Amino acid sequence: MSEKQDSVVTNFSMLILLMTAMTVGLILLGTIISKITDTGPDPMEVAAADARIEPVGRVALTDGTLFIAGSMATQAKPVEPEPEVEVAAAPVVMDGEGVYNTACTTCHATGLAGAPKYGVAADWEARLAQGIEVLYDHSLNGFQAMPAKGGFAHLPDDQIKLAVDYMVTAAK
Ligand code: HEC
Repeated sequence: MSEKQDSVVTNFSMLILLMTAMTVGLILLGTIISKITDTGPDPMEVAAADARIEPVGRVALTDGTLFIAGSMATQAKPVEPEPEVEVAAAPVVMDGEGVYNTACTTCHATGLAGAPKYGVAADWEARLAQGIEVLYDHSLNGFQAMPAKGGFAHLPDDQIKLAVDYMVTAAK
């Protein structure tokens, strides 16, 4: 090897050495800088990730067992039983006049749709001749334009009969 060749090899080795040193130096510098500037996970991103992995469903049993997305967390916070709600109040019991005023007066006070009018004897004469049982039957079950129970289906039969009695009495 000539001297010229020697110096080329030496220079080249020096260059490689220098570049290696620079590479190591940059790696160290980068590591240090990232250590200094690292502030931990972004709280916004953490919150967003928590929202994404939130369980899709929770089922609470009345005994306090809480199911969260298929897994079972036993005896988590006990579920308060719904307070009992009193729905059906006692049915209002009306006399014949009360039922008439509630359910029958619309048609029977005015003669609407050909209804026999309250207190008009002539309207009732032929109907009374059928006998009270037929009048009861037609009132309870309907008869031509006369709707069953006057359309007040929830009223008890005996209250409808009281209203018939009330109208029949007025028609005599
Ligand atoms: C929507 C109107 C209407 C209402 C409300 C109504 N009626 Fe009538 N009612 C009629 C009509 C119309 C007739 C006559 C039917 C016929 O003879 O064609 C009739 C006839 C009657 C008759 C005679 C039936 C017969 O056989 O001749 C009785 C009794 C009677 N209604 C009782 C009642 C009572 C009691 C109520 C209330 C609970 C009532 N109606 C409510 C329309 C009504």
